[in-house]
Amino acid sequence: MKKDLISIKDLSTKEIKDLFKLTAKLKKNKFSKVLAGKTIALIFQKPSNRTRVSFEVGMYQLGGNSIYLSPSEINLGVRESIKDVAKTLSRYIDGVVLRTFEHRNVVEMGRYSDKPVINGLSDFSHPCQGLADVFTVLENLKKAKSITLVYAGDGNNVCNSLLYACSKLGININVATPKGYEPDEGVVEESRAFAKLNKSEVKLFNDPFLAAKEADVIYTDVWASMGQEEETEKRKIIFKDFQINTNLMRLAKKDCLVMHCLPAHRGEEITDEVIDSKNSVVFDQAENRMHVQKAILIKLLGEKR
Ligand code: CP
Ligand code: NVA
Repeated sequence: MKKDLISIKDLSTKEIKDLFKLTAKLKKNKFSKVLAGKTIALIFQKPSNRTRVSFEVGMYQLGGNSIYLSPSEINLGVRESIKDVAKTLSRYIDGVVLRTFEHRNVVEMGRYSDKPVINGLSDFSHPCQGLADVFTVLENLKKAKSITLVYAGDGNNVCNSLLYACSKLGININVATPKGYEPDEGVVEESRAFAKLNKSEVKLFNDPFLAAKEADVIYTDVWASMGQEEETEKRKIIFKDFQINTNLMRLAKKDCLVMHCLPAHRGEEITDEVIDSKNSVVFDQAENRMHVQKAILIKLLGEKR
């Protein structure tokens, strides 16, 4: 039966660890022909640099092909229903990456597609990002136990995926948001249950300075996500104390990693000084997107032995 990647919640700890083993191998040996003859469709309803390019290059490196379908091309749900798009594409391609606004669109695509569907970002989650991020943390810190990742900013799609990824691997996660911008309650509850199984903790804060104490990793994302552009000015005021700057970094551990999924709004959620500091791994995260996604593509589209 085909398998999708809609949310990290659906992956077991073992599946994530296996995925990371394959990721590390693919990072050393970029080229293979394991997906020769296979094609993926990239349906994007929002702009992208990293997700589009890393999937396209990754698929090429695995011997396969990709077709990018811009918002105006497919016009999901307007020109044609998601069901009809899914059923049609299933006759041509071997997998779909969907970047969309409403998460239920990815779920619906998964329901009707005969081929694997990968969530390339929805308003609810960004699983490829969360997986690449935790891979990057482990690559740098070598262990998951007793380390704390602090996410400061909006409790958004990236935050939800980090909650699942950290809790599935036993990494403590502190999330600091302004009141009213906390991550999804259901995600927090489920992550707490995963964390308990893996002997770690999930803590919520409204004070970034309290959350940042003893951080091994400090992570942030834009204050207004794609689709929230009209709230930008309002959010700049609400989030101003959540900026990752040298004052906040002083509270963290000495070699604390700095992370951001990018694109960054320099001078807003993070200062130049911090994002360009020697502890910043933001471009490693971007690079690791490609290696992790190649592993995902092989697991979902590769021949089963
Ligand atoms: N981090 C990320 O998904 O970047 P893009 O929006 O550029 O794809
Ligand atoms: N939270 C951001 C992530 C971009 C990769 C957004 O959804 O726009």
